[in-house]
Amino acid sequence: MPPPAPSRPTEAAAGPAAPPRRGLLASGLALAVGAAFGPGPRRAVAAEASDAYRPESGQPGKDVVWVPTPDAAVERMLQMGEVGPADRLVDLGSGDGKIVIAAALGRGARALGLEFNPQLVALSRQRARAAGLTEERARFREADIFATDFSDATVVTMYLLPQLNLRLRPTLFAMAPGTRVVSHSFDMGEWLPDEQGRAGLAQLYRWTVPANASGAWALEAPGLGLPATTFELRQRFQRVDGEARVDDGSAGLVDARLDGDRLRFAWRAPDGRAIHFDGRVAGDRWRGLATRSGAAPVPAEASHRGGRTPIDGRDAADAPQRLSSAGAAAGPVRLR
Ligand SMILES: C[S@@+](CC[C@H](N)C(=O)[O-])C[C@H]1O[C@@H](n2cnc3c(N)ncnc32)[C@H](O)[C@@H]1O
Repeated sequence: MPPPAPSRPTEAAAGPAAPPRRGLLASGLALAVGAAFGPGPRRAVAAEASDAYRPESGQPGKDVVWVPTPDAAVERMLQMGEVGPADRLVDLGSGDGKIVIAAALGRGARALGLEFNPQLVALSRQRARAAGLTEERARFREADIFATDFSDATVVTMYLLPQLNLRLRPTLFAMAPGTRVVSHSFDMGEWLPDEQGRAGLAQLYRWTVPANASGAWALEAPGLGLPATTFELRQRFQRVDGEARVDDGSAGLVDARLDGDRLRFAWRAPDGRAIHFDGRVAGDRWRGLATRSGAAPVPAEASHRGGRTPIDGRDAADAPQRLSSAGAAAGPVRLR
């Protein structure tokens, strides 16, 4: 009797993927996978796959076994990632390609699957073709997710393991602020999710990669008529707080929020009136609007001074090093 198929991934001994096996479970899986593709392609996929490679749920993979995300959870993950035609999605460890195909077919995204097992890559390509997708929309590459540059993706999906998610964190923090990250089953440790959801038994998490807004910002807002003002921001993951310094006084920031590159906060100026700031961080500039209570908004800018602390003090420091050495070895994967 074969062991029951796992419903969650487990760690796998490093090594090649298991040889293809056939069986009832595999046939059921082929149909279940096909169900994500819509009525037309589903028939074609089932027919084409009937005498082809059939992966088995729980089969070994490089760092984690293959277990497919259920169809309902795939749809929910794409909703939580707010995936649309302007997006470039990458699925890390793409298995049979179902997330990539659903993103391209159902949401018009350009999607890429990175998968270590060449047989799963071939199967994914076959399924994408059967679903009528060109390589421009759904692409699969045989690759190690830890040695591949996927930094131009706008949405990252994954169904891996807790320790693999943690290994990926520095790479994710180095991506463009606003990039959405959606994980099936496993969280990111101390980096708390911005959203959680469920689909059946599947627990799902979504994060938005935050800009690094930490450090000192010198305010430039002539319309406010303030003396020289500096904002000092502290940041850990997407949580920010801090204070404003004017002359020799300071006052704490109120309701500071960082959502991708959008940084908002309020501050009570020396005259006692609250000012709301709402704008976006782009490198060393923050640009937005400042609104004094009861007055019309005025344009405001701030320039960054001095250093920044890592988004995650523990692991951000090695991100550029790891990306450049690993990414260079495999060559960048471009979705654009
Ligand atoms: C749990 S499955 C998830 C498959 C798919 N993303 C889904 O949600 O249906 C994890 C996949 O990651 C692949 N994998 C494991 N380690 C990998 C690595 N280092 N690089 C690329 N793929 C890997 C496995 O072969 C497997 O297909």
